[in-house]
Amino acid sequence: MVTAGQVSNKRDYRIFNAKTDSYPEVEFEKVMFNDASVKDWLEKIQTLGFCFIKGVPIDPEATKALIERIAFVRHTHYGGFWDFTADLTFKDTAYTNESLGVHTDNTYFTDPARLQLFHLLSHTDGSGGESLLVDGLAAASTLLKRHPEYYRTLIQVRQPWHASGNEDVCIQPSSMAPVFSIHPDRGRLYQIRWNNYDRAPKSDWPLETQKQWYEAAQCYDDILNERRRRIQTQLQPGTALIFDNWRMMHGRTEFTGKRRMCGGYVNNDDYISRLRLLSYGREEVLNSLGSQNHPDAGKGPYSII
Ligand SMILES: [Fe+2]
Repeated sequence: MVTAGQVSNKRDYRIFNAKTDSYPEVEFEKVMFNDASVKDWLEKIQTLGFCFIKGVPIDPEATKALIERIAFVRHTHYGGFWDFTADLTFKDTAYTNESLGVHTDNTYFTDPARLQLFHLLSHTDGSGGESLLVDGLAAASTLLKRHPEYYRTLIQVRQPWHASGNEDVCIQPSSMAPVFSIHPDRGRLYQIRWNNYDRAPKSDWPLETQKQWYEAAQCYDDILNERRRRIQTQLQPGTALIFDNWRMMHGRTEFTGKRRMCGGYVNNDDYISRLRLLSYGREEVLNSLGSQNHPDAGKGPYSII
């Protein structure tokens, strides 16, 4: 029985408080050579939704190797590990300097990438381009408190997400998906899809539901854009940022000049496998394979979702 009244089981979830918390960080040198440090790294991502990695060599190969300490880089129709320069002097429409509102990536996949890592390699002849993060689960929790009916609407109404920008693809999930997905075993919100550009105009719904959904979406958007929720940082070469794409919204302020960025995605299953094994050990994970729905599963490896 799926319940819709819970955002978190609290065990592995904490909201970052910009006034009292310092940014979660790990050292490149440690995570590259020590599995205990990878565990610490992944626990920070799992708990707070994001983490910075300090001391990363300003080099795409080293950045790719960093991601591969978690798992292989996920390929999509855009490629695998990416490394590009947004040179605005060419006015290429693919690389705009405009601000990007907060969103999640991959809403159009049946299985959106779980993690995304960014590393700014250089920024010359300009300024701006600060990175934005907003905790989508925390915002959902506020929506649930203020307007439980809107929270339910964003669970119940499924939307036609798609990626059709390239001539040779039109990618859609295996079934339309809601903004808020509830975990069938844990009964809590565990995945958010939020991207206005990836949402096709839905045509198979009654007017009353349309009205309800847009009101709910407007309200959630207003909460997401509350200034106090915004984690805004200027990335620096040598410091990478990784975040949970099922939980955190990301965006960017506008910028001038020439930026070179690299990064990549990691699948959910491969990330969770790494985290469960590091947290509980192989034996305990294997011993509890058959009881993922058991009431006690919430204390063991399957509490990590
Ligand atoms: Fe994005």
